Parts: sequence; C-alpha cells; structure tokens
Amino acid sequence: MRVVVIGTGTLGSALAEALYEAEHEVVRVSRSGDEKADVTDRASLDDLFTRIGTFDAVACAAGDVFPGPLVDSTDDQWRDSLRSKGMGQIDAVRSALPYIADGGSFTLVSGILGDEVTRAMTIGATVNGLVESFVRAAATELPRGLRINCVSPTVLVESPQYYPYFPGFVPVPARDVALAYLRLMSNPYNGEIVRLHRVG
Ligand SMILES: NC(=O)c1ccc[n+]([C@@H]2O[C@H](COP(=O)([O-])OP(=O)(O)OC[C@H]3O[C@@H](n4cnc5c(N)ncnc54)[C@H](OP(=O)(O)O)[C@@H]3O)[C@@H](O)[C@H]2O)c1
Repeated sequence: MRVVVIGTGTLGSALAEALYEAEHEVVRVSRSGDEKADVTDRASLDDLFTRIGTFDAVACAAGDVFPGPLVDSTDDQWRDSLRSKGMGQIDAVRSALPYIADGGSFTLVSGILGDEVTRAMTIGATVNGLVESFVRAAATELPRGLRINCVSPTVLVESPQYYPYFPGFVPVPARDVALAYLRLMSNPYNGEIVRLHRVG
C-alpha cells in the first residue's frame, strides 16, 4: 500500500516505522514534514491530495486539544481544538475522498477521554466524541468500497508530559497503537473504534 500518514510526531513516527517494516510506502505529512499540509487549512489539504499522486490509505496521527479545567477554558481553546483534532481529521477525509484508490481506507485517532473520566479534559473528550461519531456515520456512506476506522489510545508510554493528566492510567506503547492502525487498514474493518485502553 501507499499510505499517507498525517502527523510526524510520537504516534505518526511509530506508525511510519510499522508501515516500513511491513514493506508499505509512506508519505509523511505535517506542517513541517516531507510533504507539507495543515489540517486546519482545507486548501492546503486539497493541495496535498492533488499533488502527491495515487494512494491507498490515509492515517491521521495529528491534531491538538487543550487540556485544562472546563471553568477556565477559553473560546480560543475550544475553537482551536475542534478545528485541529476534530474538523482537521474530518477535512482530511473529505479532501482525500476524490483521490484515494478504490477499496482504500481512512484511519483517524480519538483517545480514551470520553470513555474514561479524568479531571480537566472536557475539551479532549468532546473532540474525541466528534471524531468517533464521524467515523461511525461516514462508514455507512463511503463509496467505492472505501472504509474508515478509528484508533482510541490511552496515554502513550512515550508521552510522559501527559502523565499528570492521567493519574492511575496504564500507558500504552506507541508501537501497539501503530499496529492497531496497520490492522485496521490491512483488513476489511469498517466503522470500528479500536480502544487501546489499559484500565483496571
Ligand atoms: N500522545 C498521547 O499520549 C496520545 C494519547 C491519545 C491520543 N493521542 C492523539 O494522537 C495524535 C498524535 O499525538 P502525538 O502524541 O503523536 O502528537 P505529537 O508528538 O505532538 O505530534 C503531532 C504531530 O502532528 C503534526 N501536526 C500538529 N498540528 C498539525 C496541523 N494543524 N496540520 C498538520 N499536522 C499537524 C505535528 O507536526 P507539525 O507541527 O510539523 O505540523 C506533529 O508531527 C493527537 O491527535 C493526540 O490527541 C495522543
């Protein structure tokens, strides 16, 4: 497969590595990546998918959400989070749709927030819910044998900066999440949310 991976950070890098190991071709995308695009800018997504040639899968591992207490949250934090991890991923699918190969797949990322309760993560939980609802609904509508799924990781082992927001949660290695992406894009799953949650 030729796979477009949006996000070149912790998760995107682990996914690229897993894809290379499985002998797939990877197009690495971020605002500063080999191929540049900003998921908050629809025109830049359209430009990306028109210039990179044919591809079989799109995997999103990008998008920011603001952590913090609901009572202190600002309009900018809500708008930017919805626009980045929320609409950014949805727009990546919408922009790629005319160009992705028949039978291709999309894999988006949500997260444990929304399924499990933490303090001060209401924005993240809301955005994850948006992404997962989009995936479930879009799966019923995609044409040409296209599929769409979602990975929902808990906090990553490689992201200790987020541990204070997840007291008592068992982190998951980024590689396990990468393999979940690979499983979803390589097999006939559609409309699935794969939860990589380690809770007792
Ligand atoms: N890390 C965790 O513990 C964890 C747990 C659950 C879910 N997640 C989710 O997994 C995703 C990736 O997390 P991560 O830890 O890998 O993040 P990360 O290490 O901070 O990397 C984020 C990547 O996304 C790119 N990016 C950010 N904004 C972008 C934009 N507007 N357009 C295009 N690319 C953009 C960044 O590159 P540029 O700055 O060059 O654009 C970077 O390559 C996020 O959606 C996060 O919510 C993470």
